[in-house]
Amino acid sequence: MAKANANETQNDKMVYSQTVNAVDLEEENRILAETVEKLEEENKTISSTLIKVEQESSILRELFNNTNNELNNLKKPSLLVAEVVSVHGDKAAIKLPNGNKFYCYIAQHVKDIRSGDAALVDQKSLNIVEKFEANENFEVEKYVIVEKPKEDWNSIGGLKEVVREIKEVIELPLTKPELFENVGIKPPKGVLLYGPPGTGKTLLAKAVASSTNATFIEVVGSELVQKFIGEGAKLVKDIFTLARRKAPSIVFIDEIDALASKRMETGTSGEREVSRTFMQFLAEIDGFKHLDNVKIIGATNRADILDTAIIRPGRLDRLIEVGLPDEEGRLEILKVHTANMNLRRVNRKEVAAKTENFSGAELQAVCTEAGYCAIRENRGYVTHNDFLAAIEKIQIEEDDDAAGLIG
Ligand SMILES: Nc1ncnc2c1ncn2[C@@H]1O[C@H](COP(=O)(O)OP(=O)(O)OP(=O)(O)O)[C@@H](O)[C@H]1O
Ligand SMILES: [Mg+2]
Repeated sequence: MAKANANETQNDKMVYSQTVNAVDLEEENRILAETVEKLEEENKTISSTLIKVEQESSILRELFNNTNNELNNLKKPSLLVAEVVSVHGDKAAIKLPNGNKFYCYIAQHVKDIRSGDAALVDQKSLNIVEKFEANENFEVEKYVIVEKPKEDWNSIGGLKEVVREIKEVIELPLTKPELFENVGIKPPKGVLLYGPPGTGKTLLAKAVASSTNATFIEVVGSELVQKFIGEGAKLVKDIFTLARRKAPSIVFIDEIDALASKRMETGTSGEREVSRTFMQFLAEIDGFKHLDNVKIIGATNRADILDTAIIRPGRLDRLIEVGLPDEEGRLEILKVHTANMNLRRVNRKEVAAKTENFSGAELQAVCTEAGYCAIRENRGYVTHNDFLAAIEKIQIEEDDDAAGLIG
């Protein structure tokens, strides 16, 4: 019995110690699992930091390389830009900007160099090491206005005959060149619009560009000869290159008289410069074909002072007068400019009758001024009296301007 009891106690002890062991193990397991989890997390953080550091390092490496390259470039001696005068096999005569001429070698890798090209030459040896292309990329688009105009024929009042002629001379050859090919005639390369200010010359040029979906390149003659001293001829050349690249296109030269006026003499360097630009212009006109998709429209208020070279056959040989509108024309122009106005009992016929010698631009000013009269009186509509007051105001302004010009 006592033995049996002793056995039982022994068993209990074993069970107890097994239970304790199991609890310990579980605890240990839990701690281990926790530690593993923590380690895994740490590992994750470390690898993401590593990725970031690697990225940063690659950025820094790139930065270093760039700076190093830049530094190396800065250390290189700069090259001179020279003009190639003539080429003789692997040698060439060049002219430096100071006018000095040299006979030098052309590096073997420089291909297709011709007289007239710009070249980069080594400062010491003056040998040609590169062809200089920048000249060709003279950014002509910075200096002229290039656009696809939205004005359509409906925005032009009157000028029926003028519109008909422009359609025939500019629009038709651009849209249906085959008509001319079939019949065997050459359409003019361009037209010259002349007449007083504000009569719609620019408007007409834009409308024809819009109706033919042509690129409209606008150049102002006086700017060409004043702003770009020394560059005028080059700019003219670049303008026509651009026109050909963006064809169909219309080159509109406003104030063409500044470029193409009869010259009494070409004594001063300024006059020589204008003359060079003009010569280049004529050469460009002569250089393209009648049915090339480029048309030229010149505009001037002073047809009387134009050099006849410009209107010689084959050049801008269609002269189109854009005069002041007659009464009927004025009514048509008023209709265009009042189309979106809120009018009340306005007799446009009478307005047209009372605006003799007004240009289209002045008629537009009358409409705007009449609108202002309404606004000043807090009205949302414009009356006939507003128009009468506006006519008077514009008339006085014009008279003042004219007096100012004379005085
Ligand atoms: N026939 C017209 N129909 C409608 N609007 C016209 C007409 N003529 C002129 N205008 C108005 O006058 C404005 C100026 O006209 P535009 O610039 O075409 O004149 P221009 O003949 O080129 O003058 P400038 O000789 O001074 O350059 C136009 O924007 C238009 O609003
Ligand atoms: Mg104009």
